[in-house]
This record gives sequence, C-alpha cells and structure tokens, in this order.
Amino acid sequence: MLSEKLLEELNEQIKYEFFSANYYLAMAAYCKDQNLEGFANFFIVQAEEERFHAMKFFNFIDEMGGKVIITGYDDPRTEFESLVDVFTAGLEHEQFVTNRIHHLMDISMDEKNYPAISFLNWFVDEQVEEESTMTDLLSKLKLINNNPNGLFMLDKELSTRTFVPPKA
Ligand code: FEO
Repeated sequence: MLSEKLLEELNEQIKYEFFSANYYLAMAAYCKDQNLEGFANFFIVQAEEERFHAMKFFNFIDEMGGKVIITGYDDPRTEFESLVDVFTAGLEHEQFVTNRIHHLMDISMDEKNYPAISFLNWFVDEQVEEESTMTDLLSKLKLINNNPNGLFMLDKELSTRTFVPPKA
C-alpha cells in the first residue's frame, strides 16, 4: 500500500529515470559526433541502466497496488564543450538523482513504509556507484588533459562496457 504522496513521488521518479536515459543518449550523441565511439558506448550503456531503473520503479508501484503514471519531460541538454563538460554534467545529474532517492527514502521512513524502505535501499547503494563512476572518469579526463594517447586508451577501455541487468 502506498500513500498518495509516496505514489506521486515514485511516479515522478519514473519520469526522472527516463529523463536520465535521454540525457545520457544526448551525451552519447555528442561523443559519436566527436568520433569517440568508446565514450559513446559508455553513455549508451548508461542509458540502458536508467531505463532499467525506471522499470524497477514501474514494477514496484504496480506490485504495491498503485497506478503507474507515465509523463513526458523537458528536452535534455544536447550541446557540450568538451568531455570534461560532459562528465561534469553527468556527475551533477547523478547528484541530483541521489537527492531525489534520499527524498523518497525520507518520505518512506516518515510513513514507516517498510517495503518502500527496503526497495529504495537498492537505489541508495546504486547512487553511490553511479556518482563514483562519474567522479572517477572525470578525474581521469582531467589527468589526461586532452593528451591524444590518453584519450585513445580511455576510449578503448570504455568501448568494452556492456549492460548486465543486476539480479537484485
Ligand atoms: Fe538512475 Fe543514474 O541513476
């Protein structure tokens, strides 16, 4: 059972997760335009993860007897100045999502909604990983400082990333 408030906020989160997927696809498009196929692959996989997140919320709302509401969202930013700009935007976006998840957790705890708390715990952990991935790549890019060899190596490394749906 979900309160009206929690149901509304969980539905809102579906929108943010799908927006995240679009945002990362916009970043992938920028990377492709720069002939950085490995970086593009990284963001395409990231977009798949976001759709997986959205569907987790979709299924949870349904399992809890709530009605899923799908809505649209604003267009994502599509212009970037550099890879550092892209990953800075990615990190800021993940920090925004982390705040959203914590907000959902606050409501669930206030309402003593134990199934929601248990469900959201997965996302609390996931956000630690999401922010860490963006921070790590942003640090590497700053270190590389546009050195072509460094960029080539990192692009190659990121081309191997694949989406494996988590079990939990
Ligand atoms: Fe769904 Fe990247 O957080």
